[in-house]
Amino acid sequence: MFKGVLFDLDGVLTDTAEYHYQAWQRLGKEIGITIDRTFNEELKGVSREDSLTLLLAHGGKTNDFTSAEFAELAKRKNEYYVEMIQQVSPKDVYPGILDLLKNLKKQGIKISLASASKNGPFLLEKMALMPYFDGIADPSAVAKGKPDPEIFQLAAKNVGLQAAECIGIEDAKAGIQAIIASHALPIGVGRSEDLGANIALVSSTKELTFEFLLSVWQTAKA
Ligand code: G6P
Ligand code: MG
Repeated sequence: MFKGVLFDLDGVLTDTAEYHYQAWQRLGKEIGITIDRTFNEELKGVSREDSLTLLLAHGGKTNDFTSAEFAELAKRKNEYYVEMIQQVSPKDVYPGILDLLKNLKKQGIKISLASASKNGPFLLEKMALMPYFDGIADPSAVAKGKPDPEIFQLAAKNVGLQAAECIGIEDAKAGIQAIIASHALPIGVGRSEDLGANIALVSSTKELTFEFLLSVWQTAKA
């Protein structure tokens, strides 16, 4: 039986992945870089600075900004994003998530956050989910972001576990790669075209029941 669940936040607990996209799109427009949803799949799960690096490369502008300008762009994107998440409330928690968190608690399974976002704790508060989390991995404490496994290893460690004893839930390609590399068992929220066909997938968080997690674990460990 798994002992912990390591949750991504944006696009798993709520729809904030969409706000990240809109904020990058707005910033991109201001510096003459157009992005679409296909390119956005590359940004999902990736840290703010790494996302900006990818955005600039996408627009052929890698060398157009000084490091001070780079920092200003990253800050500006975050301001757009933070403006959008002020209205987030418990109503915005994705379907099925609250029941899953309650059932995990009932079963004594640890719940830990493995989000690359520095806005993670703010959003957990806004959604009234903070009481369910036994641990939160601080993204500024890891040297390498997703797809490196470090944030999932840290999230497991924060609740006294090894990643291999946990299930990791992600909506991003980089996140699934990070989970696999950490030796936790991945469950993807999304499409096989984006996340890969060789892992357990759900198309909606409604499907993320405790029984489903258990069956994924038992099948993988059989
Ligand atoms: C998550 C999101 C990414 C975002 C990253 C950093 O992983 O999926 O889109 O870039 O967090 O978020 P932050 O709020 O710190 O800029
Ligand atoms: Mg995500």
